Order: sequence, then structure tokens, then C-alpha cells
Amino acid sequence: MRKDLQARRAFVRTMVAVAMASLVPLGAAQAADPVKVGLMLPATGTFAALGTAISNAFRLYVEEQGGTLAGREIQYATVDDESDPAKATENANRLVVRDRVDVLVGTVHSGVALAMARVARQRDTLFIVPNAGAGDLTGSLCAPNLFRTSFTNWQPAYAMGQAALERGAKSAVTLTWNYAAGQEAVKGFAQAFEAGGGKVVRELALPFPNVEFQAYLTEIASLKPDAVYVFFAGAGAAKFVRDYAAAGLKDSIPLYSSGFLTDGTLEAMGGAGEGLITALHYADGLDNARDQAFREKYQAKYGIAPDVYAVQGYDAAQLLHVGLEAVGGDVRKKAEMRAAMRAATIDSPRGAFTLSAAHNPVQDIYLRRAEGNQNLVIGIAAEKLADPAEGCNM
Ligand code: BEZ
Repeated sequence: MRKDLQARRAFVRTMVAVAMASLVPLGAAQAADPVKVGLMLPATGTFAALGTAISNAFRLYVEEQGGTLAGREIQYATVDDESDPAKATENANRLVVRDRVDVLVGTVHSGVALAMARVARQRDTLFIVPNAGAGDLTGSLCAPNLFRTSFTNWQPAYAMGQAALERGAKSAVTLTWNYAAGQEAVKGFAQAFEAGGGKVVRELALPFPNVEFQAYLTEIASLKPDAVYVFFAGAGAAKFVRDYAAAGLKDSIPLYSSGFLTDGTLEAMGGAGEGLITALHYADGLDNARDQAFREKYQAKYGIAPDVYAVQGYDAAQLLHVGLEAVGGDVRKKAEMRAAMRAATIDSPRGAFTLSAAHNPVQDIYLRRAEGNQNLVIGIAAEKLADPAEGCNM
């Protein structure tokens, strides 16, 4: 009888322990275990090279620290998100729920990142965005667990709108892929352009990631605006610029863009991108030692020059490092870790930046001119530009 009671008590103790363990929040690994980083990035499709650059540079930073951050080994779980919003929730859940990552890092495509933000919020998982510029991420969806080391779509587009005016344009046609990033970029361009007296005479759009541009080029030729502003990136951007030149428009109507058009794509344009003026928070030829060291190491390791996506991935790892250092590597101390990340100054290859109250970089936007395979800095289009973070209540 007494033995029965002892056995029953032991059984109850075990069950309570199991139940308690299952209540431990996701990501609360023991301090001695590796920190699990979930990299959700495109490895296929029009943004594949962008995802690779982010992943490469994130890993480069960690390797520079000896494979550990704040004494914790870094372990990766990866998913190819295919830049497909329809698969985004399931893909994010694979990393957050199945793999129980401590931090989710991704992605390139705004629509995919918006779905990731919802998953990360439900589980209170730390989420670092190394590219996607959707305004809502640091706007209406802003949250203590969500940080961005890249930009909002508004930032370079707004700066380009001002620069287009300064370069004498009074009318413009816009063209973009029809999804959050392109819509917001066009809005940002138009906001600055029209505030300064310019007029956007036609807004054109095609579905992502469609690259059949001919009908739009014909329409632009007949509208004869002073300038064209576009949002394209990756392989689709290279195709667009080749088509723009082949249609004979390059010499007659200046083409402006957020710098994603020409970052990492100039070689594939085969010379058609020569001379293009763009605005972005990174450029070739920056006069800063941090950038030079980064470029040398990246080139030596991967045999290719880094671009803006690599910089953003590198800075995502730097931001994680700041958070982990603040808590001695103990990811369970979420509030302290996030407070340190919020207050961080990131020594980025783009130039040092801080984060806004909404956790988005406050940064210089450079004006660049494409020469050969480089986007050389020719000025600053907007200094320490902060996104307005509409709808963010944190
Ligand atoms: C975006 O979807 O937010 C995006 C994609 C590629 C380059 C820049 C922004």
C-alpha cells in the first residue's frame, strides 16, 4: 500500500515535470546549448541571389567571431521560402514550431515577411528582417520582438523622388511589380516628387515576378514623361533594364529607381545599366574602413563583391550579437536582450546606424551612379532618414 502511494507520487512528479517542460516558451533553450537561428530566405526564383547574399554575410559575421556569439555556438535551420507568400506561414511555422529556433531571420519578399511577422508574434519569437521593406513590419505590425536591419520601401523611394526633382524632372511614369514593396516604393517616390511640384502622370504595374515588360515600355514611349521611376530587384531587374535599353528608351527618358534595380545585377545587364542613377542606403566606393574590411573578407570568401543584401545580412548578425552579449548568451532573458538591441548602434559597412523607436534603421540614403559593375556613391540623397512608422504603437 505504502509502495503504491510512493510510486503514484513519483509518477505524478514526473508528469508535472513533463508538463512544466512543455510550458517552457519556445526558444528557451538551456544556456549551454547552441543558439538556433532559422534562416528563411529565397534560394530559388527571381530573388535567389539576394537570399544567398544575406545568408553568406550572416554566416561570415558569425565565423569572424569564431562560430559563437556571446559564448554560444550558432546553429542554423534553413528554409527556401521561394518568395512565395502562399507558403510563408507554413514555412515560418516549420522553423518556429517544428525546429524551435531562438531567432527567425528573413526574408527578402515583403509579402512573405508579413506572414513571418504574424507567426513570430504568436510565439513571441525574436524576428530580425534583413531585407523586406514592407512598411507595416515597423508600422502597424511593429512589436518588441521584431527588428529590421534593412530599410522601409518608403526610405530610398522618397529620397529618389527628391533627387529626380533636383535633376529637373517635372513629370514621371512609375512601373513596378504589383505587391507591397512596389506599391509602397511608388507611393514614397510620388510623395516626395509631387510635394516638390512634380506630377506622376501614370502608375503602371504587373504581377510579381512577371518579366513581360514590352507592353509597358510601349506605353511609356507614347506618354513621353520627363522620367520613369521603377521598383524591380534581382533577376527581374536585370531583364527590365536590358529591355528598357533595347526599346530605345534609355537615351531619351531618364530611368530612376530605388537602388535595388542595380545592386548585384549590373553584370547581368551586360552594360545596359551604365550610368543609371539610383538611391539606396549602400553604395560602392564609400570612404569607411568598416566597409573596406567587410568587402575584402566577403570577396575573399565568396569570390564576388558584396551588395546591399550582404550588408543587411551581416548587420542582422551584428544586431543579434549585441542582444546576446547583453544577456551573456541567455536567450531566455528576452526583455533585456531586446532592450539592448533597441539601443544598439550598428557599426555597419553602410555607415553606423541606430534604430528608430519602431526598430527600423535611421540611415543616410546615398545617390549612386552605375559605372561598370559598381554603383558608385555620388552624394547623399537624404541624411539620417527615418521612416514615419505610421500605425506603430509600441
Ligand atoms: C521587398 O519585397 O520588400 C523587396 C524585395 C527586393 C528588394 C527590395 C525589397
